[in-house]
Amino acid sequence: MPADTATRAGSPKATAVVGPIILLGPPGAGKGTQAKAIARRFEIPQISTGDILRENVVRGTELGRKADPVMKAGGLVPDDLMLAMVAARLKQPDAARGFILDGFPRTDGQAQWFDQALESITFGGRRMAPVVINIRVSYNQLLQRLTGRRSCPVDGRIYNVYLQPPQQEGICDSCGAPLVQRKDDKEEVISERLKSYERQTQPLVDYYRRQGRVHELNGDLPVDQVTAETLAIVESSAAAGA
Ligand code: AP5
Repeated sequence: MPADTATRAGSPKATAVVGPIILLGPPGAGKGTQAKAIARRFEIPQISTGDILRENVVRGTELGRKADPVMKAGGLVPDDLMLAMVAARLKQPDAARGFILDGFPRTDGQAQWFDQALESITFGGRRMAPVVINIRVSYNQLLQRLTGRRSCPVDGRIYNVYLQPPQQEGICDSCGAPLVQRKDDKEEVISERLKSYERQTQPLVDYYRRQGRVHELNGDLPVDQVTAETLAIVESSAAAGA
């Protein structure tokens, strides 16, 4: 996302109860980009399971050691590890007004677990159902987005060498750190990630459609337009009490 997108999209709304937001979509759909925009606007945490796993890999924790080979191969980390990790994160005080799940749930088991977990979580004193945003992107866009993605290891900003380049090649616009490429953004791993998505995660769109919770987004549009639509969905859902 360009450095100033969140600012242009409006000032933060730090007092509103927002509730749980789920971003669905294939690898490269723009979940992380949009999660950051929501997080800035509403000052609720982006809970990116991919980011938490990558941090564990860097720190060499037991979870990181188990997840690393699975991620390198483009598969999904087993549910028991994911559920323990997410359960611990949801208990953090910064999630009290709401949170954005970026990359979770990803399997039927994870979705069912999360439905149950929500029965015992309150936001501003009340239970809230998730707002589910499904970001659809045409297949041929995804490859360019993933192979071109670079990110800042210091502030997490996401760029794309083809679509959203930094002002100076390889350097973060906001903090000047050298940008990095994710290990799983290689073509052979990307195709495995897309297969895992189709097999295990895409069916969740129907799972949430049956609950009447899905908002569809055209993720092929330019980032600023997708962000404006995303924020409008979250705003109206929060106002309606989801
Ligand atoms: P994770 O980190 O979640 O990766 P992913 O789902 O594959 O999604 P990405 O982060 O690749 O893409 P994104 O949709 O966030 O797109 P982004 O905004 O960056 O997971 C990694 C791995 O961890 C998994 O493969 C799995 O092994 C494991 N894992 C994680 N969660 C798990 C779970 N719940 N269960 C089991 N295993 C799990 O954008 C991509 C690029 O496109 C960027 O360059 C961006 O600048 C650009 N872009 C974004 N939007 C636009 C736009 N509108 N127009 C033009 N360019 C755009």
